[in-house]
Amino acid sequence: MSETGQQPAEPILYLNGSYRPLSQAGISPLDQGFLLGDGIFDVVSAWQGRLFKLDQHLDRFFDSLQATRLPSPLSREEWQAAIIETCRRNNLRDASIRFIVTRGVPQQIVADPRDCVPTVLIWAAPYIFLADEAGRRNGIRLMISHLRGFGPQNLDPRYKCLDRLHFQLAKMEAMAAGYDDVVWLDDRGHVAEGPASNLFAVKGGTLYTPGEAILRGITRATILELAAELGIPVREANLTAFDLYSADEVFTTSTAGGVLPVREVSARPLRGPVPGPLSRRLDEAYWEMRASGRHGTEIDP
Ligand SMILES: Cc1ncc(COP(=O)(O)O)c(C=O)c1O
Repeated sequence: MSETGQQPAEPILYLNGSYRPLSQAGISPLDQGFLLGDGIFDVVSAWQGRLFKLDQHLDRFFDSLQATRLPSPLSREEWQAAIIETCRRNNLRDASIRFIVTRGVPQQIVADPRDCVPTVLIWAAPYIFLADEAGRRNGIRLMISHLRGFGPQNLDPRYKCLDRLHFQLAKMEAMAAGYDDVVWLDDRGHVAEGPASNLFAVKGGTLYTPGEAILRGITRATILELAAELGIPVREANLTAFDLYSADEVFTTSTAGGVLPVREVSARPLRGPVPGPLSRRLDEAYWEMRASGRHGTEIDP
């Protein structure tokens, strides 16, 4: 694959064991993923021809499948090979790759979740940034939703599942109010996370991040790893909205763009500068790590 290679006219998907163009990738209307949001997914990204932390994404994926009682139709090695092959077939070197297992299609009309044939899908798109150029440079406006996140007492946020209506509602609420992104609190009023990102705040040179009621973000873990290497003190802590309003810096982390600075939280512009010095340093270190090939899996070895 060359850097200037053309992408196919239509995206090529992996669906249940074969590669086919998007227009020929049909999924049954009886699929429990479609009807109930009963399925598990993950999103790994490729940059300059290398998948970042694929092992960690597969670990998280397999943990969610296991907890959901969804047997994986593919072995770990088969997932890895199919994810790489999907990137190759789409001629993508900078990509966001979504991989999914749904409960699938029931054998009978009255669905029994124990008796379904799972659906497997891998879909690679050109790399997606959560924010546009201006947002990445000058920071985004973040709203705290009135909706509360789930917790281990109902749906543990570590399930990376397709059931995301409350995420959509929170996101649409924020968009309707003119914000770029949203974050919610947990049922005790502690800052949790957003629909595709984890959250960090900086105060007095220390990095704070929620340690509960969150999906264990791979980017979050990478930022914790980099902070340790750079000698930046970190604390997992219960943060409230007040901590965000009064922080020196706030940023989100996600596979879709790494570190994203925040310039305003629910109508409180941060005192700045935005991006702040630690956000900037960690963002640079994150992209250096990716460019270095550390934790990278070559698409074209
Ligand atoms: C709810 C939620 N929180 C956090 C994240 C960030 O995780 P990662 O850094 O692995 O992309 C995601 C990713 O999509 C997510 O869905």
